Amino acid sequence: MPKPLADRVADMGPRSLIREMTDLLAERRRTYQGRVINLGQGTPPFSLPEYVKERIAHAILHEPDINRYTLQPGLPELREAVAEKIGARPEDVYISAGSMAGLGQAVASVVNPGDEVILTNPHYEPMRIVTLMWGGVPVYAPLMEEEGWKLDMERLRDSVSERTKLIVINTPANPTGKIFSEDDIREVAGIAAENGTYVLCDEAYRFLTYDGERHVSMMSLGIQEMDELLVTCLTASKEEAMTGFRVGYVHTRNRKLLDAMIKFHDAQSICAPSLSQFAAYFALTGSRDHVEGFRTELDRRRKLLRKKAAEIDGFEYAEPKGAYYAFVRYERDISSLDYSKRLLAEEGVATIPGETFGSLGQGHIRISFAAAPEDIEEGMERIKDFQKRLA
Ligand SMILES: Cc1ncc(COP(=O)(O)O)c(C=O)c1O
Repeated sequence: MPKPLADRVADMGPRSLIREMTDLLAERRRTYQGRVINLGQGTPPFSLPEYVKERIAHAILHEPDINRYTLQPGLPELREAVAEKIGARPEDVYISAGSMAGLGQAVASVVNPGDEVILTNPHYEPMRIVTLMWGGVPVYAPLMEEEGWKLDMERLRDSVSERTKLIVINTPANPTGKIFSEDDIREVAGIAAENGTYVLCDEAYRFLTYDGERHVSMMSLGIQEMDELLVTCLTASKEEAMTGFRVGYVHTRNRKLLDAMIKFHDAQSICAPSLSQFAAYFALTGSRDHVEGFRTELDRRRKLLRKKAAEIDGFEYAEPKGAYYAFVRYERDISSLDYSKRLLAEEGVATIPGETFGSLGQGHIRISFAAAPEDIEEGMERIKDFQKRLA
């Protein structure tokens, strides 16, 4: 009889509903009579730019170090390219195996069991799981749907206690598409500085903004009090269409904290995959035209989704100003998990149940407009029928 697994496995809570829906989708693809449509995905729909593919192929053939570990903090030329991109010093940057790893390394490095970690409600679900994994206690600061999922500053302030160790901010936000304003970002920094609390900024979608809105990065505001407190995580996943490559960029000016995170990184992965680091370097130092191309195309799909949603009774959402998700309130008397499961079973359309992103996500589903335009059209037609049936 094997001994039980570590307590932290149970502490992490139930399995992610995002993963559960992904499994159900794969299963449905085997059994559904028609074409299954995936509006749940968080993957950019684009392939690699041609010049990046060519440089990767060339590197495989000719780069002598392509099959070896890089230095732990990453390929020096990639760290330099990242530093230049974000206006930082290369020595303040390391390359993680995807930003998810970097986010986890930040939590691991600052959170003791019992320390409180402030997450927004709704929030990017994996951050709750990572917090629990390291024994942190999530405390939820609500966002206000009626104000487009703006941070409720009053409530954020109230959520901070002596035990608060970390505030996690994700902008542009998954799942709401909200971009936090400069005033709000400054206020979060003020609250953190007053309390000596670390801030972890997840800026995975920083390049994806719409309607002339501007992403504001806390690190770019030059707030001196934040030098020792701020960690920023970025990724090649979305901006370079490299989700499978697993390359993230982590920045902090706190040397001790950076060393601690790299220690975790070394113990977990040694280094981010070498070939992927070269690929990210090629993408970052190439023409960059693809980034505007991605943004323009996703904006077109965002508008298509709005047009189709307007035809559906009871479908409401604050217009996403960033990222590629709409967080839709469906106004039917059914839990979001049941809604998503039934929609997949009955209409062959995958979405993500809102409750997985926090209690305020109940009654919502997350729809990704990164899906192909024909899938958005067809998927929304099927959802229209489903909504009618539930009325
Ligand atoms: C808000 C947010 N942060 C982080 C990640 C993780 O990205 P990566 O592929 O860099 O691990 C995602 C992925 O969907 C995300 O949506």
